[in-house]
Amino acid sequence: MSMVARFAAPLALALAFAFPAAAQQKEKEYEPQVGQAGKDVIWVPTPDEVVDRMLRMAQVTPNDFVVDLGAGDGKIAIAAAKKLGARSLGIEYNPDMAKHAQRNVDKAGVAGRAKIVQGDIFATDFTQATVVTMYLLPALNLKLRPQILSMRPGTRVVSHSFSMEDWAADETSSMDGRRAYLWIVPANVMGGWTLEAGSERSELTFEQKFQKIEGSVALGPIQAGLRDARLRGFQISFAYVDNAGVRRDFSGRVSGNRMEGSFRTESGAEGRWSAAKK
Ligand SMILES: C[S@@+](CC[C@H](N)C(=O)[O-])C[C@H]1O[C@@H](n2cnc3c(N)ncnc32)[C@H](O)[C@@H]1O
Repeated sequence: MSMVARFAAPLALALAFAFPAAAQQKEKEYEPQVGQAGKDVIWVPTPDEVVDRMLRMAQVTPNDFVVDLGAGDGKIAIAAAKKLGARSLGIEYNPDMAKHAQRNVDKAGVAGRAKIVQGDIFATDFTQATVVTMYLLPALNLKLRPQILSMRPGTRVVSHSFSMEDWAADETSSMDGRRAYLWIVPANVMGGWTLEAGSERSELTFEQKFQKIEGSVALGPIQAGLRDARLRGFQISFAYVDNAGVRRDFSGRVSGNRMEGSFRTESGAEGRWSAAKK
């Protein structure tokens, strides 16, 4: 056998293995740089203690589906799955970063619950999220706001560093000079409702600005102002003092064009109430 023939076969075999290995090696070697360009915002990772507070303030449980908008290296999606047992999705525009983040998910052993997809947050559906996390920019938060406000009432939204302008946060936490904000998507109760409580029927009106509500109830010719009106996601509570001077307290849930719950009065009456949007 010639020298060429003796080496040709093993060489071909070696090359066949060497090239895929080299390609894999190259993929593994991708090292993101803090400050690198993204589509709408650069990559800067959220520090671990802030990630932890964001997920705690959103009260993430294994029943949640957490979506991180602009996933970076995947750390928020990974923490949600690994520490709190949630399902999670990270949406990352940079394809190299998305692959890198998915590898981090695999390495963290949470591939069954967490996933990274390459995509634009403004073109990817995240309406199924029960918790949305973000570390973007004020203008991007505002651009996302209408979409967030149309999500299911009760959806929790947490943002590292940046607020939502006149939509005041339900909680602001700070640590090491950094802030994290929480909002709970409120139900829409604005307008007129017909209230039925026991055998009585009356007309309720709510004014609403994000989660802040106030209102009144028609008691004959009197528009009696509501007291302690509160909306938290789909949970509502309010009270009024009737024409006999007795305070009546209502609490319940909003579901689209209906509300229902229980009431009690200072005079000791209790019962169920419901209201239908006019
Ligand atoms: C400030 S980093 C935050 C990363 C991660 N969420 C964290 O808190 O550690 C923002 C990330 O959003 C990505 N990004 C920028 N514009 C985007 C867009 N339109 N769609 C998806 N990802 C985007 C960037 O590539 C970057 O990784």
